[in-house]
Amino acid sequence: MDNRAIGVYDSGFGGLSVWRELRKMLPEESLIYLGDGKNCPYGGRSREEITSFAVEAVEALVAEGAKMIVVGCNTATTAAVAYLRERWSDMPIVGLEPAVKPACLTSRTRRIAVLATEHSLKSDMFLATAARYASDVEVIKVVGNGFVELVEQGLERSVEAEIAVRRVVEPLLDEGIDKIVLGCTHYPFLRPLIEQVIGEKDIEVIDSGEAVARRVKWLMERYDIAADGTKHPEYRFLSFADEEYRQRLEQCAMHIIEK
Ligand code: DGL
Repeated sequence: MDNRAIGVYDSGFGGLSVWRELRKMLPEESLIYLGDGKNCPYGGRSREEITSFAVEAVEALVAEGAKMIVVGCNTATTAAVAYLRERWSDMPIVGLEPAVKPACLTSRTRRIAVLATEHSLKSDMFLATAARYASDVEVIKVVGNGFVELVEQGLERSVEAEIAVRRVVEPLLDEGIDKIVLGCTHYPFLRPLIEQVIGEKDIEVIDSGEAVARRVKWLMERYDIAADGTKHPEYRFLSFADEEYRQRLEQCAMHIIEK
């Protein structure tokens, strides 16, 4: 048993979509969330740059007493998770991968779309997963242009967001796909708009949030590091950007709790 917090990290607000699932599935666990904010977006950056941000983030979370790390960012996972696991080999580090496997296993049309950042879609990790599970499935890869920036500005319900989502999702509707995989943790914030654009079409939207929370739960049992339930969970928020950004992260998370 271990009452220390789980550390969750993302380039910015996106990992809050993972934070939400962790809080739901593990209500007794304390969580420390670090949303970089200063270097966001990561999507167009190099592997080396993203790895150095990820190292800085894990160092900060460990200094705050995290017992395990959830990299709540697909891009940082593809760039850095192997290195992080090597460097902090005594601590469980959970990464995030687009839900290509469940989408391929359940696709009837054998055509799916994966929306993610440029870095993720080009990464060896994504290509290996696609080769493994999608050998007989056609995967259409699309960058959600502008999505991260809109979510960072809190504009996920705006007219600009609707235009950006239409631009990306509409061309997919006549491609014969039956799944859209959200392979970036910022994108679930745009899910209502994505579903609105899909309308009556028989296309399922899948993200990885719940699956990751399940994996974290399993790992905590395996390592015997779950909270013992005697302590009220605490939720803390950190950022490499300014105090205003940090407060916005906190407010966004509290808003998620109320919903
Ligand atoms: N939220 C991130 C992801 O899951 C990265 C977005 C970005 O910073 O470009 O990929």
